[in-house]
Order: sequence, then structure tokens, then C-alpha cells
Amino acid sequence: MDKPVKHFLTLLDIPQADLHGIIKRASELKQNPELVTSMPRKTLGLIFEKSSTRTRVAFEVAMNQMDGRSLFLTTGDSQLGRGEPIEDMARVLSRMVDVLAIRTFEHSKLERFAEFSSVPIINALSDDFHPCQLLADLQAYFEHRGDISGKRVAWIGDGNNMCHSYINAARLFDFELAIACPPGFEPNEALVAANADRVQVVSDPGEAALGADLVVTDVWASMGQEAEQADRMHSFSEYQVNQALMDKAATDALFMHCLPAHRGEEVSAEVIDGPASVVWDEAENRMHSQKALLEYLLTQ
Ligand code: CP
Ligand code: NVA
Repeated sequence: MDKPVKHFLTLLDIPQADLHGIIKRASELKQNPELVTSMPRKTLGLIFEKSSTRTRVAFEVAMNQMDGRSLFLTTGDSQLGRGEPIEDMARVLSRMVDVLAIRTFEHSKLERFAEFSSVPIINALSDDFHPCQLLADLQAYFEHRGDISGKRVAWIGDGNNMCHSYINAARLFDFELAIACPPGFEPNEALVAANADRVQVVSDPGEAALGADLVVTDVWASMGQEAEQADRMHSFSEYQVNQALMDKAATDALFMHCLPAHRGEEVSAEVIDGPASVVWDEAENRMHSQKALLEYLLTQ
């Protein structure tokens, strides 16, 4: 019987031990890029309905370095933009490419793609989750500080796709997650409730940051929320990660941001460009961890 296709729509799709293995392998590939598995004739299809710098470049460079190919499609240059059903796109594309990474709005679109695809589907960001970024963030934490298990992580700002992926990571990697959001911008209630033993939602950023080993934030208005930008600037004005907030965290606390960042909004220049910040390592790790993910999905 055929093996079931492995997808990566959220962190929960991959067993915890295997996620650890992917992150360890990513660090190994960072040190020794020549060890990467060669995948000639393998093609990664990238379908992006939203903008990207890191995710697209990391996947394309990863495939290049693995001797494979990548194929970038946007809504405008495929029939998806003209209403071809996702179920049909999934069946057709998966007869031609070996793996698909999709960046879209509704998470349910990814689930429909996965249901009808005979090749792995990777979530390259949806409105609800951004699991590829968490591989890179966790890799950066392990590289700088060792095991994240038992540590305290503070999420400051919007209860968005990144925040949801941090909630999943807290469960899988056994850390405490304190989330500070303005009222009305909390993460998904059911997801928080399912992880209530390690996730706490508060409104005071200082309370969340207190004693944190890692402080993380993200933009106040995500892609697709451009029309809410002005209102959000107002609602989030007290949620900036600045030095005063970092001073409440542990003395050796790290700062992370998935990027792109807006200095002077969700983070001060002093923090993102300061000694606690590991944002460039996070960004670089996108490529290493995506190589390790592609190896995992395509070779097992
Ligand atoms: N962090 C991240 O996903 O960046 P891009 O939007 O540039 O891909
Ligand atoms: N929350 C942001 C992350 C960008 C990488 C967004 O969805 O736009």
C-alpha cells in the first residue's frame, strides 16, 4: 500500500521527535552545506497569493543547492486567479511537481489543497499559521541558548498567524508562552484553551515580558489587513517592544521578529538593531530549516 503523503500545514502535522530532528539537521546543514541531499529532477512548486522575500528566496535557493528546481506561480499568472477550483489545481499540479509550498489567505484553502494532492503541501504562511518560520526561530533559539523546554517566551502584539504557531510550538517544545494583546486582538480562543496548561493571554505587555527568556513580536497589521492599518496603529500603540520592555525580561533574553519589521511601530530600532536581537539568524535559518524540511518530506 502507498505510504500516506506527509504535509506540513501546521507544526502539529509532524511528530515532535521528527521536528527536533529537522531543526538539528538544519543546524548541521548550516555548518556543512555540502552534506545536503542532492535531489536532481525534483521540482518544488511555489504558489504565492501574498508577497514574500524570505520564504520565497529561502525555498528557491534551497532547491538550487539541492540540485532541484523551483517554479514560482502567483494568483495572477495561474488559473487559480481565474477561479479554477483548488481541488482541480491540486490534482493537476501534484502529477507534475514533487512538493508544493503555498502562501495564501484562508487556511482552509491549504487543507483543500492537501486533501486532493498526491505530493506534500507545505504551508508557506496562511492567515492562521506560519509553521516554516517557527522551524527557523526554534533553530535560532537552540543555537544561541540550547533547549527551549521549560523556558518562558513572551509574545507581544497581535494574536495572529505567528502567534498561533508559537502556541503550537509551546505545546510541542514544552515552553511557557505569555501572550500580551490589546483587547479584541487575542489569538484563537479554542487554540488557547487547548493549550491552557502552558499558554496564558494577558493585556499588559510588561506582565508577559516579566522574566522572559525570549521576547517575540510581529507586525501590527498582517498581509490582507492593510485597510485596518490606521486603526491598528492606534490599538497597538502601547505594545511596542522597546528597551523598557526588554528590561523586564531576563538579563540574557533574546529578541525575535519574523520580519519584515517596522521600526518605531511594533519594535524600537534600539531593540531590533541591539545586542538581544537575533533576527538575522532567524532569517538565515529559514533557508537551512526549509532544506531540512524538504529532505524530510521528500526522502522518507
Ligand atoms: N518571515 C517571512 O515569512 O518573510 P517573507 O514574508 O518575506 O517571506
Ligand atoms: N503576520 C505577518 C507575518 C509576515 C511574515 C503576516 O501575515 O503578514
